[in-house]
Amino acid sequence: MCSGTGRVSQKFAQNVVGVKKIVLVDINEWFLAAAKKSIFLSKEVVAVNKDVLEFETNDKFDLVFAIFAYHHIQDSRKIEFVRKVSSLLNKTGILVLAEIYFEKQNDCLKYYKDLFNSISKENQTSGLKQFIEETAKSLDFEFKVSKTFADKQFASEGFKLINEEKVWPVMDSGKNGMFVQVYST
Ligand SMILES: C[S@@+](CC[C@H](N)C(=O)[O-])C[C@H]1O[C@@H](n2cnc3c(N)ncnc32)[C@H](O)[C@@H]1O
Repeated sequence: MCSGTGRVSQKFAQNVVGVKKIVLVDINEWFLAAAKKSIFLSKEVVAVNKDVLEFETNDKFDLVFAIFAYHHIQDSRKIEFVRKVSSLLNKTGILVLAEIYFEKQNDCLKYYKDLFNSISKENQTSGLKQFIEETAKSLDFEFKVSKTFADKQFASEGFKLINEEKVWPVMDSGKNGMFVQVYST
């Protein structure tokens, strides 16, 4: 879901033998075109250029990746996203959710400032600062919520947390920041 160039699915298929089918869903046709050019180690790769909320299929999946996807859905429609993911998974299916959470919206600007400063000077490519500032201030493409809100919403739709890890900043044990969560239904 919100696959971008499909790099996560590609990495997964590189490391797990026997991936039969990968479906990538994204609104950005350029990302999907780039994804199609990479060599996917799966028998079948389908790229769907659609809003994830409008994605329909009869397939049921063993695994759904939602890597920085949920925060692109407007808050009032997030529940539809959660239900959509639930409808895509088979009985033993797994969701891998990576997200950035903020308990208070004001924490967002500081987070992105710290994130930029944590990137080594040689990796601060041209335009990166502007991109990070725009991301931090976006009100029409980024709809970040608190971890408390997200955890409750996934639990309310029957998702069971198997594991979670805070990815950044790891020095701070609070609920602000980037998390990877693994859910079963
Ligand atoms: C932060 S990127 C993450 C891409 C990818 N998951 C990754 O980790 O590399 C967010 C992606 O979501 C896509 N996107 C945003 N809103 C979407 C929507 N409503 N439906 C489908 N794709 C969406 C964007 O085009 C972009 O590729």
